[in-house]
Amino acid sequence: MKRSSYCGCVKETNIGEEITVCGWVHSHRNHGGVIFIDLRDREGILQIIFQPEKKNIFKSAENLHNEYVISVKGLVKKRPKGTLNSNIATGNVELVATELEILNTSSHLPFEISNYTDTCEELRLKYRYLDLRRPQFQKNFITRHKISQEIRKFFNENGFLEIETPFLTNSTPEGARDFLIPSRLNHGSFFALPQSPQLFKQILMVSGFDKYYQFAKCFRDEDLRADRQLEFTQIDIEMSFVNEDDIMNITEKMLVKVFKKILNIDINTPFERISYTNAILNYGSDKPDTRFEMKIKDFSKELKNSKFTIFSSIINRGGVVRGLCIPKCAVYSHTEINELTKFACKYGANGLAWMKITNTGAKSNIVKYFKEEELKKIIHKFNAKSGDLIIFIADEEKIVIQCLGALRLKIGKENNLIDKNKFNFLWVVDFPLMEWNEEENKWQSLHHPFTAPKNEDFITKENIKTAKARAYDIILNGTELGGGSIRIHKNIIQKKIFDILNVSEKYSIKKFEFLLNALTYGAPPHGGLALGFDRLCTLILKENSIREVIAFPKTQKTIDPLSNAPTSVSDKQIKELGIYISNLKSNDGLKKIT
Ligand code: AMO
Repeated sequence: MKRSSYCGCVKETNIGEEITVCGWVHSHRNHGGVIFIDLRDREGILQIIFQPEKKNIFKSAENLHNEYVISVKGLVKKRPKGTLNSNIATGNVELVATELEILNTSSHLPFEISNYTDTCEELRLKYRYLDLRRPQFQKNFITRHKISQEIRKFFNENGFLEIETPFLTNSTPEGARDFLIPSRLNHGSFFALPQSPQLFKQILMVSGFDKYYQFAKCFRDEDLRADRQLEFTQIDIEMSFVNEDDIMNITEKMLVKVFKKILNIDINTPFERISYTNAILNYGSDKPDTRFEMKIKDFSKELKNSKFTIFSSIINRGGVVRGLCIPKCAVYSHTEINELTKFACKYGANGLAWMKITNTGAKSNIVKYFKEEELKKIIHKFNAKSGDLIIFIADEEKIVIQCLGALRLKIGKENNLIDKNKFNFLWVVDFPLMEWNEEENKWQSLHHPFTAPKNEDFITKENIKTAKARAYDIILNGTELGGGSIRIHKNIIQKKIFDILNVSEKYSIKKFEFLLNALTYGAPPHGGLALGFDRLCTLILKENSIREVIAFPKTQKTIDPLSNAPTSVSDKQIKELGIYISNLKSNDGLKKIT
C-alpha cells in the first residue's frame, strides 16, 4: 500500500476520496464496538475508524498499541455532527478503514509520547527518537528548516556566496575553551574545532569573494545554559567595502523577511540603537530586555552628601547608588522584600534599601535620614506613583550593575511586566574595545582581537582604556542573538592590537601569522556578523531552551544520553595519537598508556 497523503494534510476537499496513509498509532479507543485510532505522522493527526463489519482488519486493529507503525487505506468521510474536533487541523474529517497493514510493532514505551511534562530530560534525550516524535518537536524542526531556507534564499538573492570553512583548524579566540583533536601524523600537535569561522571568513575577503555566508557549526567547550550548547550553528556573514550601517541594514532586512514569512509579523526597522554605556546604566545589562520599561536610575550625585551615611560613604569611596521603581509593589511584605534582598546578595550586594511610595510621600525605616529635597528628587527621577516600591543597591559599580540587572529581570518576569508577544530587536553599539581581566591582570578584547577600533590610527597602550570598538551586538528580547564588527584590515594596526594584548608568546603569534601575512597582500576593508541560529529558532518558536530546537543536544552535564558520548576509546586509538593518559581509571584499575 503506497502512501497517497500525509495524515495531517487530509482536508474536507478530500471527502469521498480513497486514500492511503502511514504513521504511528498515537492513541486508540474502542467505543461501542468501533475502534478509533489517532494516526500520527510529521504533518499531524488523522482519526481512523475501524468498523466491526470489516472483520479481518477489525481483528488486527484490536491488537494495535501505541507507536505501532501502520499503513491504512480507506475512504475520507465528514465526521458526524457533534464529533468535530477543532483542536486538530483534520478535525472535520475521518478515514473509514478498508485495509490495514501493520508495518512494525513497538516495545513498551519508556514514556508516553503525548505526555510531555512529567518526563525528565535525561530520559527524553536517551530516547530522543521517541521524544522527537512529539507533534511539538515535529513542528519545531519543520519551522527550523523553513527559517534556514528563508535565510539561504535571502542571502542568495542578495549576492552572497555560501562557502564552507574547515572544522580541523587552529582555534580562534572567541573567549571559550577549545575542543582539541590530536593529530595522528604529527604527535604532540593538535587541531582545534572552530569556535567560529572568524579568521577564515576574513581570509575569504582577502581572496576577493566580497560577500560570504555560511550556516557554520561552531564548537565551544563552555558551561551549558538554556541558550548555550557545546556545538551550535551560526549564520555567519562577512562583506567587503562596507561600514557598520551596511552590515546592520542587511541583517535587519533578512530578519524582517524571516519574521514576515514564518510568523507573518511586520518587524519595524531600523532597530533601536543603544550605546553600551546606556545599556549598562539603564538596564544593568549589555543585552537589555526592552519589552518592559522599569529603567535603573542613578542617585550618586543627588545622595553624595546624604545623611544616610551608608549611601554617602559608598559614593564618596567611588561607589554608586542606583535603584529601581517597581510599579504597584508598595504592598510587598517584609518577607517579599527579604526575598529580593537575598537575591541581590547572591549577586554580591551587602543589602538592599527600600522605600514605599504612599499618598503622603515615601515611607520606610530609612526615610528619616533623607532630606525632603532628596526624597523629592528620587520620586521625581523615577516619576514614582503612590503604591510603587523603590529599591536601592549601593556598592562598587560592577556589583550594582549586576544586582540591579538581575533584579530588573526577575521582577519583570515575576510581576508579568513582559509582553510575551513582543519581539524587541535592538543594537548595542559603541562598545569599549578592551576590558580589564582582573584574574589574569591584563587587557583583553571585549569581542575578539580582530575588531577594528574607532580612530584606529590613534590607538596606543595609554589610551586603550577609553578606546571604542566598531562592534555591534544584536539583541532580541534580552537575548544576545548575534554580534559582529568591522575588522582590522591593515597589518600594522593588527600588530599594534596584538602588542597591547601581549600576544607575543611564540605559540600565539605563530597562530595568527597567516592572518597577519594575509593582511599585507591587499586586504580590503571588511566586516561581518554572526547570528546564533539555534537562539533565533528558539525565540521564534517561543521555546525556553535551545535544546528544544536542536535534534541531538547535550545535557547540562555535557553528555549525550542517546549515544553515551563522550566515551572511552581503545588503547590502540590512544597509542596511535601518541597520547599518554595518566590516572585513567578503567575496569582493571589504574591504566597508563605509553
Ligand atoms: P560571538 O562569539 O558573539 O561572535 O557569537 C555569535 C553568536 O553565536 C551564538 N552563540 C552561541 N549559541 C549557542 N551556544 C553557544 N555556546 C554560543 N556561543 C555563541 C550567540 C552569539 O551572539 N566570530 C564572531 C562573530 C563576528 O564577529 O562576525 C562570533 O562568533 O547568538
